[in-house]
Amino acid sequence: MAKISEKTLLNMSRLTLLSNISRSFLTFVFSAVFTVSASFAEAPADTTKANAAATTTTSAADPAAIKEGESLFKANCKSCHKVDMDAVGPALKGVGSRRKPQWIRDWVHNNAAFRAKGDKDAIAIWEKWNKSEMTAFPTLTDAQIDAIVAYVDNAPATTAPSDTTGTKGANGPATGGGEYDTVILGLVVVVLLLVLITLLVFLRVIKKYLKEKEAGLSSEDKELVNQKFDIKAVVKSKGFITIVSVLFIVIAVRACWLGMLSIGVEQNYQPVQPIHFSHKLHAGDNKINCNYCHTGAYKGKQANIPSLNICMNCHTHVKKGPQYGETEIAKVVAAYNEGTPIRWVRIHNLPDLAYFNHSQHTKVAGIECQKCHGPIEEMEVVKQYSNLTMGWCINCHRETAVNSQGNAYYDRLLKVHDEAKRKGDMTAEEMGGLDCSKCHY
Ligand code: HEC
Ligand code: HEC
Ligand code: HEC
Ligand code: HEC
Ligand code: HEC
Ligand code: HEC
Repeated sequence: MAKISEKTLLNMSRLTLLSNISRSFLTFVFSAVFTVSASFAEAPADTTKANAAATTTTSAADPAAIKEGESLFKANCKSCHKVDMDAVGPALKGVGSRRKPQWIRDWVHNNAAFRAKGDKDAIAIWEKWNKSEMTAFPTLTDAQIDAIVAYVDNAPATTAPSDTTGTKGANGPATGGGEYDTVILGLVVVVLLLVLITLLVFLRVIKKYLKEKEAGLSSEDKELVNQKFDIKAVVKSKGFITIVSVLFIVIAVRACWLGMLSIGVEQNYQPVQPIHFSHKLHAGDNKINCNYCHTGAYKGKQANIPSLNICMNCHTHVKKGPQYGETEIAKVVAAYNEGTPIRWVRIHNLPDLAYFNHSQHTKVAGIECQKCHGPIEEMEVVKQYSNLTMGWCINCHRETAVNSQGNAYYDRLLKVHDEAKRKGDMTAEEMGGLDCSKCHY
């Protein structure tokens, strides 16, 4: 047994302490990097969004113009063009580099006249698209057309509106996060990696220094100094195992919680319908009143999906549509003649335990369809706009004042409300809109 001097004893405890500290710190840094990369894996959508944003910002364009372009595109072009997919007309992304600005302006203003002037490209694309007519837009200004081009060339990649979204609940509610979070996470990773590298360098320097003085060290200290960095020891260490288990539990609990919250919630559900019936075409472009087809919306509980009789009021005459020609309308006529109803896929569906009445909201409360169903008149394919959770119903009942116009019964209630000097309007809540029994059988 070598005699241990006081000095080496001090030295040794220092060294062990140092090595312990650096080991726990390494463990911490490792697990932190692990967590951060795990949350990266959890938020793939966000990262792709960030990537898309990164690629788009490279071609500099005025955000205001892009914004204007977006609404112009949606109002005028969306019925025939998709940004990155062929539709009635070609995909428009990249058109700004494919064509000269003046060419696009001439084409959009009046493509027939432009072709008549003998522009070769214009005739070529027209023939390529089987001589389909594109509407002329003589009222759009040059700046507006440029804005549309700026928008389509800078629009982030979109998913197809129909056709691919056949699986129910595929698009759950957003799970938080955002580009901002991604940036912060990225920064954290970089900083942690830097710390890790600095630490490793620091350790190395200390070891080297001690090695030079090896002669004066005790055998145990020598062992410590000559020790190789052992990943196995780190992985087996208690600290590491604890941190990893805690992280695992936290992530699992969070996933379960989010999963439970979204059970039965089918916001954005947008099934493919057996016939390509377009609300944009009927309720939007042709301005057919919702009530013409959904005859129950102001009368009763159900809004009703129209029967084929209602379609045939018009489609005995209208045989050809702008998008699908005769094929889709032929399906309507055939089904009518055979007497088989169309099997529309139901989109909005409350569970049986809940009671909802349309006329109470549309006729009595005077709420517009769009408040709950979104801009239906702009949808080629209907999707569920609101999440239809209990929280959604309750929130609105808390916030919305009842419509008391021309309703003697409410006049009395309002008087009571005013006499009680309650602040603000009388809300649905005060009418009993939060009573469980009002919504649950
Ligand atoms: C009624 C359907 C329809 C509408 C609405 C429509 N387009 Fe088109 N567009 C087409 C078709 C179809 C073509 C292919 C050429 C052809 O057959 O005329 C086309 C071609 C084009 C092209 C040429 C693409 C290329 O690759 O050269 C541009 C640019 C264009 N459209 C822009 C617009 C803009 C901008 C709007 C909105 C202001 C718009 N279109 C609205 C149907 C439409
Ligand atoms: C020409 C007839 C017609 C008109 C007008 C019309 N709809 Fe519809 N609507 C339908 C048909 C057919 C369906 C079923 C097919 C589908 O979902 O696209 C439907 C489906 C819906 C759905 C989804 C039903 C479900 O399954 O949950 C909503 C919501 C809706 N319509 C709201 C409206 C609103 C709001 C308007 C007015 C802005 C309107 N509709 C105008 C025919 C019409
Ligand atoms: C009030 C009249 C009216 C009613 C009711 C009506 N439609 Fe239409 N429909 C039209 C018009 C107008 C067009 C477009 C014709 C055009 O623009 O060339 C059209 C077009 C269509 C198209 C062709 C779409 C395309 O782009 O090719 C389909 C499919 C269609 N309707 C289905 C239906 C169904 C299903 C119903 C019943 C739920 C219905 N329509 C009820 C007036 C009506
Ligand atoms: C206060 C919110 C709200 C308003 C306003 C509203 N709806 Fe609904 N709508 C719903 C809910 C919730 C459902 C699901 C009902 C169910 O599953 O029992 C629904 C379902 C539907 C359906 C599917 C078939 C049915 O009857 O269940 C159609 C069609 C529809 N709404 C059309 C309309 C139209 C048209 C209007 C405007 C006149 C309208 N809605 C206004 C909330 C609303
Ligand atoms: C956009 C706002 C809004 C939403 C969303 C909404 N409601 Fe309402 N609801 C109202 C208003 C306003 C009234 C009061 C109507 C009146 O004057 O009687 C009401 C009244 C009711 C009543 C009658 C209450 C009473 O005192 O008789 C029931 C039941 C009801 N809502 C159920 C629902 C259910 C179920 C949902 C969700 C699926 C829902 N509501 C979503 C606004 C809303
Ligand atoms: C304004 C209407 C409304 C009122 C008031 C209301 N609920 Fe609900 N409740 C709903 C709707 C709609 C659903 C279905 C929501 C879903 O599927 O997410 C629901 C679902 C539920 C569920 C099923 C679990 C779930 O989240 O899906 C329970 C339990 C429930 N409600 C209890 C109550 C109780 C207890 C009260 C009284 C304090 C109450 N509700 C008041 C509309 C209401």
